[in-house]
Amino acid sequence: MNYPLIAPSILSADFADIAAGLEAIRRAGADWIHLDVMDGHFVPQITFGAKMVNDIRARSSLTLDVHLMTSDPERLIPAFAEAGADCITFHVEACVHAHRAVQSIRECGKKAGISIVPSTPAAALSELLPFVDLVLVMTVNPGYGGQRLLPFCLDKVRELRALRAAKKLDFQIAVDGGIGPATIDEVAGAMPDVLVVGSAFFDAEDKGAVIRSLRAAYVGRPIVC
Ligand code: DX5
Ligand code: ZN
Repeated sequence: MNYPLIAPSILSADFADIAAGLEAIRRAGADWIHLDVMDGHFVPQITFGAKMVNDIRARSSLTLDVHLMTSDPERLIPAFAEAGADCITFHVEACVHAHRAVQSIRECGKKAGISIVPSTPAAALSELLPFVDLVLVMTVNPGYGGQRLLPFCLDKVRELRALRAAKKLDFQIAVDGGIGPATIDEVAGAMPDVLVVGSAFFDAEDKGAVIRSLRAAYVGRPIVC
């Protein structure tokens, strides 16, 4: 696929007016909605729980991409599945029995994603890759929107692409943190399949133009693997 899916993160939306944020995402022509769940333990902030996903599900038919930045994510899976998430991603650093957690997401009929923070190597995922639908490579230390991209994390995207090709797997690779028009040239060099965009989307006057510029950066690039 020589075309990135764009997933605006509602973390950067006005939480007092989520409906307006959803409408902005729809109008701009985004592909997914990224929902950052923070528990005040795995990361310092607290955002929202399954009810938010449930209420957004009632208002949007876009793919709901839940990113659990929580300790002990396994126990939260049923509630987020029930709430209408399409894909549930958790951190390998937060879960000893990650393979079991992946299985329980799939048993709920949802896509299973696994994420790594900047200090975790891609190799930490090698045993899980055959079982997941998505790998979310954090390109900032998770916990806050509006941080600067850490370019060394993009090497992990390249590594995962190579592993995917070598093992003939078909998971998608997403990047999250510091993605936007200012960094897209660097990011597009690694060709992740999904771009999570928080502040660069919500801070922009013309949100459609942000999405168009991110997609345009992939056009004409050769697909390596
Ligand atoms: C950060 C979250 C991100 C965040 C990205 O911990 O996981 O999804 O919304 O925000 P930006 O795009 O502003 O870095
Ligand atoms: Zn996220």
